[in-house]
Amino acid sequence: MNRRRFLQIAGSSGVIIAAGGVGFLATRTPKDALVPWEQAGSLYSDPLRRALSYAILAPNPHNRQPWLVELKSETEAVLTCDLGRLLPITDPFSRQIVIGLGCFLELFSIAAAAQGYRANIRYFPNGEPDVGLDQGPIAHLSLQQQKGLAGEPLFGHVLERHTNRNAYDANRVIDDAVARRLRAAAPRNIHIGTANGGALLQDLRALTRDAMWTEVRTAEAYQESIDLMRIGRDEIEANPDGIALGGGFLETLKLTGLLSRDSLADPASRAYRIGLSMIEDGAMTSMGFVWIKTDGNSRTAQIEAGRAYLRVALQATADGLAMQPMSQALQEYAAMQPFYETIHDRLAKQSGERVQMLARLGYAQAIGPAPRWPLATRIGPKES
Ligand SMILES: Cc1cc2nc3c(=O)[nH]c(=O)nc-3n(C[C@H](O)[C@H](O)[C@H](O)COP(=O)(O)O)c2cc1C
Repeated sequence: MNRRRFLQIAGSSGVIIAAGGVGFLATRTPKDALVPWEQAGSLYSDPLRRALSYAILAPNPHNRQPWLVELKSETEAVLTCDLGRLLPITDPFSRQIVIGLGCFLELFSIAAAAQGYRANIRYFPNGEPDVGLDQGPIAHLSLQQQKGLAGEPLFGHVLERHTNRNAYDANRVIDDAVARRLRAAAPRNIHIGTANGGALLQDLRALTRDAMWTEVRTAEAYQESIDLMRIGRDEIEANPDGIALGGGFLETLKLTGLLSRDSLADPASRAYRIGLSMIEDGAMTSMGFVWIKTDGNSRTAQIEAGRAYLRVALQATADGLAMQPMSQALQEYAAMQPFYETIHDRLAKQSGERVQMLARLGYAQAIGPAPRWPLATRIGPKES
């Protein structure tokens, strides 16, 4: 949350004084929760865990980090989904969870290539799960050393890629050449579209805002997010997943009672109203959108959409763009139905096409990383 918003809520500097002043504000950055970003690539000497230590930095819905890895040998592993980390209200078919696992796999592959290893990834070795995910393997991973394997330039941007939910610079347009590079960042069987001006950009701003407002006003859906909010450093350190509301400003609001899970859920509260206006600020300063479509909606298509999203996000980072998925209109619960239909009418004209990801773009001040559980906690019990 930026300073302007903070002061709007706090009303005066009295709140800061009440919280113990600037010294307090400066000490509230989480430490352990961010260590996986510092240790990526350096904690382990074997190529498999090295690549995995990057893969856990992948974007994923609500930062649930649903990946579980079982190491089979020095160079082989099986990825499964932690079924305790699903989002049953807003992601009833776990489509987005699978997309997040696709992001993980692409990051694994890029990080392996950077060490001179080809990642062979076999999706759903026991067959695709159907409507509900099960404990079956999502993918079998193996590494093969390959002399002269060209690393991917995108690897250089892994540690700078972050989801940026702030307002973007409304005066800085996105060049066509930048939009073209985003569209070219993923393989050809994945359709990537962009809008960086004109009526479509205007429409998508309003549509993503309205869909997010609708989610906030749909108590059950919003509560799913609120339950996953980690407010302040102690909560973030204890559970380095979910939606982190950290930093001195927010921590001060928490201390003074202005920011709590209850106030966020209460339509009469200031925190709730400011939340709605922050959604407006974000959506309406989007200077572009990028979307990813697949033919059909198989589990494999969802994985491939995630792999493509990771590449697009790294390309955006390489081009200095900020990016935030705006997923509400794509979600499969009743309140989203009208938005879902509109977005598919606008962006997916071929029959059977499915919009898997939609994200806003723009230029903004850089932000810091989101928390992660260390890799060791995401490696399954059958380590050999
Ligand atoms: C499938 C998918 C859907 C997402 N939807 C949203 C969204 O609607 N709004 C949002 O702010 N972030 C969204 N995100 C971004 C995640 O919240 C973010 O990746 C996660 O919190 C970790 O933060 P990081 O990307 O900065 O590492 C989505 C990510 C994925 C992979």
